[in-house]
Amino acid sequence: MNPSRTQLLNEAKLAETVNQVHLLEDPWRLKFHLMPPVGWLNDPNGLCCCNGMYHIYFQYTPFDANGGLKLWGHYQSRDLIHFEYTGVPILPDTHLDCDGAYSGSALVEGDAINIFYTGNVKLEGDYDYINSGRISNTIWFKSQNGLTFDAKKCVLSTNDYPADLTQHVRDPKVFVVDYIYYMILGARDKTDKGLALIYTSADKMNWKYKNRITTPEPFGYMWECPDLFRLGEQEILSVSPQGLDTLGCNFQNQYQSGYFLLSGDFKNEYQLNAFAEWDHGFDFYAPQTFLDCDGRRILIAWMGMPDCESEYTNPTVEQGWQHALTLPRELTLSPDGTQVLQNPILEMEQLREREIVLEGTPQKHNTTIKLASVFELLLTDIHSADCRITICSGIALSYQQTTGIFEMQFLNNCGSGRMRRYLPLQSLDSIRVFVDTSSIEVFINSGEAALSTRFYPTDTNYTLQVDCTPTTLSLWELAGYRIT
Ligand code: FRU
Repeated sequence: MNPSRTQLLNEAKLAETVNQVHLLEDPWRLKFHLMPPVGWLNDPNGLCCCNGMYHIYFQYTPFDANGGLKLWGHYQSRDLIHFEYTGVPILPDTHLDCDGAYSGSALVEGDAINIFYTGNVKLEGDYDYINSGRISNTIWFKSQNGLTFDAKKCVLSTNDYPADLTQHVRDPKVFVVDYIYYMILGARDKTDKGLALIYTSADKMNWKYKNRITTPEPFGYMWECPDLFRLGEQEILSVSPQGLDTLGCNFQNQYQSGYFLLSGDFKNEYQLNAFAEWDHGFDFYAPQTFLDCDGRRILIAWMGMPDCESEYTNPTVEQGWQHALTLPRELTLSPDGTQVLQNPILEMEQLREREIVLEGTPQKHNTTIKLASVFELLLTDIHSADCRITICSGIALSYQQTTGIFEMQFLNNCGSGRMRRYLPLQSLDSIRVFVDTSSIEVFINSGEAALSTRFYPTDTNYTLQVDCTPTTLSLWELAGYRIT
């Protein structure tokens, strides 16, 4: 029997009240990233802006920092600086979703927020849960305020998905083109090929299978969290493929997230161009994008990685919580149209609290700057062939023109198992780094590449060494989000 809505709400509230006490003193709690109030967080869900209010839902298990039954937690905000945590509006409280309210998306129409998500059901018995024993219901319901919803409606279930698929079908994202509703879902077929399914509907209730998007050759066994959107005229497919082997500097993580630029159009004849990874750090997965009320395309990802424990871990589990969302990033197309640029949303500049003006030549080798645990560093017009930035004596970001490699390397055990990630880079022109107590996000060459990673320094005095020659070096200590 499913726990009732009231029972789940009470249990979540209890877990939050009891466990939040342990988190108050934790120096690794983040200041300007959204985290689970307690317990576990994974994918961002239902991202949208409705009547000037941003809604940021997330996969949430308040009961256990190592994950478990998935609920949707919810933050709302008018300016992406002040946030309100409103609780757990979406719960696995019916027979349609009793083993988890899995990931999904929001479609705003006037004053209404339509939510589509996967209701996960696992049958009891001797099943492999790939080809048998799993039901993935696509559920739709509606809200006027993002907090309370009308009745859940099951719009697609196992028998509605193509017969050559396994039972792994999930993570609906719904959008409108020319007055037709489109839904894209992630899937794994019976030959272990990852793909995305496209359905269409005239009324959001009745959906018809239209086509699938995939690569000619298998590219991973499963595609999670697909997202299809446009920047100008360019169609872009974002997916999180599982099952790619590391290939040189590509696919260094357990699972990947990246995008394909489409030639042609997804409804008719299309071709996927080369896959580009969204982020080259250790902790980035399952991104979702949305169009905000000002027409910006914003991406937020889970700053974490599933199933990586044999390589690296997050010691905050001992304090009763794990993971966070990345900073919101605005997406734009590069001037030559060949890549998607990601830059932190402009609102981040409002967090700059104190500019640190360095005396003398700040670029002097090995000047150690002492800092608070939340800061932003921006170097522009870098002219040196080599550049090295060291943070807390534990993480080195470096670039060597001779090798054409940019790397993030851990120098001591503050990475909790993380060692090295790297990418090819023709030249290093600018670098922008956000450090937030136990996270670092790096943006290279005005958004050409990004690296997001968690790290766990034990000294609460943070330090920075910059060994390169930029024309400008700017450094700010930052204020945190205001969260109520
Ligand atoms: C991605 C994912 C989704 C799924 C959700 C469950 O991290 O596995 O495919 O809907 O997480 O929490």
